[in-house]
Amino acid sequence: MVKSKGWNWEIVKEEKEEIWKNPSIESYYLLNRWKSQDKKYFLDLGSGLGRHSILFGKNGFNVSCFDISSDAIERTKNWATEENLKFDYKVGDMLKLPYDNESFDCIYCKNVISHTDTKGIKKIIKEIDRVMKHNSECYLTLLSKETWGFKQDTWPLIDENTRLKMEEGPEYKVPHFYADYNLIKELFKDFNIISIRQEIEYIEKTNGTSQSYHYHILIRKN
Ligand SMILES: C[S@@+](CC[C@H](N)C(=O)[O-])C[C@H]1O[C@@H](n2cnc3c(N)ncnc32)[C@H](O)[C@@H]1O
Repeated sequence: MVKSKGWNWEIVKEEKEEIWKNPSIESYYLLNRWKSQDKKYFLDLGSGLGRHSILFGKNGFNVSCFDISSDAIERTKNWATEENLKFDYKVGDMLKLPYDNESFDCIYCKNVISHTDTKGIKKIIKEIDRVMKHNSECYLTLLSKETWGFKQDTWPLIDENTRLKMEEGPEYKVPHFYADYNLIKELFKDFNIISIRQEIEYIEKTNGTSQSYHYHILIRKN
């Protein structure tokens, strides 16, 4: 299994930080959905700077923040303190979650579990299953094989689905796992798959536009 490597959040400061402090579009849908289902124990798996922890915390959820980056967790702590919110914080590797079986009603995991290889993905999905309560839900995203990164032949191929990202920035040399629909169906076969959507984001850069494809997956534990 490839060695885990988190984001280098230390280079994400000031205006670059702003994007990571605004909750993503689907978080409002999930907030509404999980509130109406009376969910309470919320895990922000790979919480980054904590934008979704803060959103769910402000809305009465009992929040656990988890990330491999101690810098990201420290910055979330400072932000939550400013907002008068109390969360549980843990730094660690998603390959082994530091929580008891059946701890959570809902898990939010945006752009996180792709940061490993095929063996790692299988291990993480087992861990997610272990910490989910009966009838709980998990939202997560996976990178698609359609996305530009998977087509970068100069990025080292770790296994048939995984490349090491070689672009300068916070994800430099972080492993990226890419999936397709059939692989997703196989990976999540033990869950009730509520929805799978593929979304294209057009990213404008100085040297042109790149297209980032992600799968958005919502599952329920049977
Ligand atoms: C793209 S960021 C997303 C952060 C957050 N989910 C959000 O949407 O704002 C990916 C996060 O996953 C974390 N991460 C990567 N590999 C990890 C691992 N093996 N265990 C725990 N966290 C990891 C990174 O440190 C980073 O904070």
